[in-house]
Amino acid sequence: MSYQVLARKYRPQTFAEVLGQIHVTQTLQNALGLNRIHHAYLFTGARGIGKTTVARILAKALNCEKGVAKEPCNQCGSCRNIIEGKSLDVQEIDGASNTSVEDVRQIREQVKYLPATGHYKVYIIDEVHMLSTSAFNALLKTLEEPPPHVIFVFATTEVHKIPSTILSRCQRFDFRRIAAKELVSSLKEVAKQEGIDISEEALHLLAHEAQGSLRDAQSLLDQAIAFAGNQIGFQHLKEMFGFLDRTQLHNLLQSILNKDQKGTLDQFQQFYQSGADINRLAQDLLKNFRNCYLIKTTGSVPEWLDLAAEEAASLEKLAASVSQEELDQLFQFSLKGVDEIARSGTPKIVFEVLLMRMSHLTQIVSVAQILERLEKYGQPSSLALPVGRQVEEKKNVPPPLMGGGSLSAGSVAGGEGGEMENWPSFTVWLKKENPRLFSIVEQGKFTGMNEKEIILGFETASVYGEMLQEEERKQQLKIALEKFFKKPMEIRIDFIKTETVANVAAAQDQRKQIREAALRQDSVKEAANILGAVVEEVRVDGDK
Ligand SMILES: Nc1ncnc2c1ncn2[C@@H]1O[C@H](COP(=O)(O)OP(=O)(O)OP(=O)(O)O)[C@@H](O)[C@H]1O
Ligand SMILES: [Mg+2]
Ligand SMILES: [Zn+2]
Repeated sequence: MSYQVLARKYRPQTFAEVLGQIHVTQTLQNALGLNRIHHAYLFTGARGIGKTTVARILAKALNCEKGVAKEPCNQCGSCRNIIEGKSLDVQEIDGASNTSVEDVRQIREQVKYLPATGHYKVYIIDEVHMLSTSAFNALLKTLEEPPPHVIFVFATTEVHKIPSTILSRCQRFDFRRIAAKELVSSLKEVAKQEGIDISEEALHLLAHEAQGSLRDAQSLLDQAIAFAGNQIGFQHLKEMFGFLDRTQLHNLLQSILNKDQKGTLDQFQQFYQSGADINRLAQDLLKNFRNCYLIKTTGSVPEWLDLAAEEAASLEKLAASVSQEELDQLFQFSLKGVDEIARSGTPKIVFEVLLMRMSHLTQIVSVAQILERLEKYGQPSSLALPVGRQVEEKKNVPPPLMGGGSLSAGSVAGGEGGEMENWPSFTVWLKKENPRLFSIVEQGKFTGMNEKEIILGFETASVYGEMLQEEERKQQLKIALEKFFKKPMEIRIDFIKTETVANVAAAQDQRKQIREAALRQDSVKEAANILGAVVEEVRVDGDK
C-alpha cells in the first residue's frame, strides 16, 4: 500500500473541517446561502494555512449537483470530479509557471464558453503574484467584464505584489496563521487516527516549529513517523531536528542571570560538544529572554505566547529573579548577538564573548536608571548613594554588541536604530551605488516606512515622483533597496499637496530642534560625564 502524505490525506473536504479560518468560511457560507457570489476572490496569507483547500471547497459548493449550498455534498459526480482534479469546470492554474500574457489570453478565450456540466467555471490561480505585469493587464480586462458564470479565486502568499487595479476588483480574505494550541490538537487527532503514540511535549515542539502552518506541522509529523516509527518522544525530535534540551537551556539562562560566568561558559561548551547548532542556540536564547521580558513586563504569561505549562512556569521563575531593566539589556545583547553570530566566520568565539558579557552585564546600572535618579535628586553627587550598587566605569557600558547605547530626551531606548535613521544611510549608500537614481529619489520627502515599503512624498504631478513610478526605475530601486535592507522592499510614491510636503519638512525640523535641546540639557551632559559616555543618538517621543 502506498503511503499518502498526511497533508493530502487530511485535507478538509468541507468548510466545517477547516481550522482557524472561521472569518473566511462563515462569510463564504453566508454568500453561498444567499446566492450572492462575488466574481473574484483573493485569498492571502502564509503557506499551508488553507487557501487552496478553501478554494476547492468553494468550487465544489458552487458546482454541487444537489444545488449551490453552504457545504458541498462530496458524493455527487461533480464533487467527486473536483476532489479528484478531473473536473472540466474547475481549473487550477499555477501562477508561478503560467506567468505570460499568452497564458492569460487562453483563459480569456475559455471563459466565453459556458460550463460543461456545472453551474460555474471556477478558475483557481495559485501564486497569482508571479504573473507578469502584462499578464495582470490582460487579466484585468476579464475582471472588468466578467461573464456571469465565471468565478476567479486568486491565492497568494505575497499580497503586496498584486497590483491595486486587481486588488480593487476582488473580495479579499486574509487567512490567519493557526494558533499553536490548535495545531497541537489537530496533530493529536491525526496521530490518533494513524495509530501513532506521540508525547504531549513532542506535539508542542512540532506545533512550535511549524509556525502557524498546518501543512508544515503535518509534514513534520510525517518526518517524525519516518524517523521514529509509531512511538514518538521528545528525544526523537531532538535528534531529528537538533533541538536543544529545554531544561539545559533554562539552566544556561539561569547561570547568566546568576552572573555565574564560569558556569555559563561550561554549559555553553556542553551544548557545543553535543553538536548543537550555534545559530539555533543564539536564537533560542533570544526568544527566551524576550519571553522572560514579556512575562516580567506584563506580570503574567501572555496566552498568545503559546507556551506549554511547564515551560511557562520555568520562565516565570527565571523572570522573577531579575529586574526588568536587566532583562531588557540581556534582550538587547542577544538580539545583537544573533546577528553577529550568524555573520561571523568564528561564531563560537563571538558566542563566548557574548555570554561573558551577558553574565557580567547584570552588575551594571543602566543609563535609564541613572537618568531617572538624576531627575529625582537633581544633583549628580547623590547618585551613588541610593543606587545601592556602584556605578561602574566606562568599560561596563555595553560596547559594540549593544549597538547604540542611546540616551534620549524623554525615554531611553536601546538596540535597533529608529526607522528614520535608516533612510538617510540608505540615501548616502545609494548616492555611491547609483548616482542617477539617487538624484531623483533625493527629490522626495521620506514620510514613513514599514516592514515592506518606504513611503516617499512628492508634490502632486511632480515629474520626479512620476519618473520613479516608471517600471524600469521602479525595478532598479527595488533591487537597490533589497541589496541595502537585505529583504524585499518597495518604494511607495505618495503624491501629496504642496503644503503637506512642507508640513513633513517642518515636523522633521522640529524634531531636530528637540534633539539639539536635549543634548544641551545639563542633566544629560552630567550623565554622559559620569559614565564617560558619548550621546550617540537622541530619540524624540513618538519616534518609532
Ligand atoms: N486551515 C486548515 N484547516 C485544516 N487543514 C489545513 C488548514 N490549512 C492547511 N491544512 C492542511 O495543510 C494542507 C495544505 O493546505 P493548503 O494547500 O490549503 O495550503 P495553502 O494555504 O494553499 O498553502 P500554499 O500557500 O503553500 O499554497 C491541507 O491539505 C491540509 O491537510
Ligand atoms: Mg495553495
Ligand atoms: Zn456534490
